[in-house]
Amino acid sequence: MKRTPIIAGNWKMNKTPDEAAAFIKELLPEIKDSKNELIAGVPFVCLPAALEAAKGSNLKIAAQNMHWKESGAYTGEVSGAMLKSMGVPYVIIGHSERREYFAETDETVNLKAKAALSYGITPIICCGETLEQREAGIMESWVSGQVKAALQDLTKEQVKTIVIAYEPIWAIGTGRTATNEQANEVCTIIRNVVKDLYDEETAEALRIQYGGSVNAANSADLFSMDNIDGGLVGGASLKVKDFSVIAGYEC
Ligand code: 13P
Repeated sequence: MKRTPIIAGNWKMNKTPDEAAAFIKELLPEIKDSKNELIAGVPFVCLPAALEAAKGSNLKIAAQNMHWKESGAYTGEVSGAMLKSMGVPYVIIGHSERREYFAETDETVNLKAKAALSYGITPIICCGETLEQREAGIMESWVSGQVKAALQDLTKEQVKTIVIAYEPIWAIGTGRTATNEQANEVCTIIRNVVKDLYDEETAEALRIQYGGSVNAANSADLFSMDNIDGGLVGGASLKVKDFSVIAGYEC
């Protein structure tokens, strides 16, 4: 089955609402002919400006996090109900920076993924190992464990619609990209985990991104690997020229 590549920028904590709108206006003409599904993951405060700027275009907007409860005494948090009310179609869940700095666990990632789906928001669920784990030979069991935990209680129909982003922590923001083979190896492991948990049809439908120092020079080779269906792009998604080259990938 042919999967449509899905290429998402993760802006992290960058850009004000005005900067977001200006950036998207400049980006849209550069990406308009792309055949891929394209997303910009923007800070919460940029969501209204980004949604407005991207309206009617081929760029979709994602939030970078959400809480799993609908509402309540959770100071500083944003719920799926709030994102849904704004028309946000995607949310990045369980990024390694959130796991490291904001104490997210496999359990909260699963709660968030289930909550996102209940609001009709598609989660982009992140996983990936540290360099120490890779060197200790536990990469496969670690990433498989993260994926199994994230998908707990999800139906196969749900799993067919979600996105998993494999982001080795040692490759994030380091300029040290995984090789095409390393990235594809882990994306294959993830697809096999899903095949074991569900079935072949579900595994083949699932889109798996690679993230970690993706740039305009290495993206096409990474995305052409058989189990990599696009990317989650940090630093290079903040530059119109770079992101438009990455977004223009042709299979
Ligand atoms: P970089 O592309 O800056 O390495 O970041 C990757 C990432 O964390 C995307 O979510």
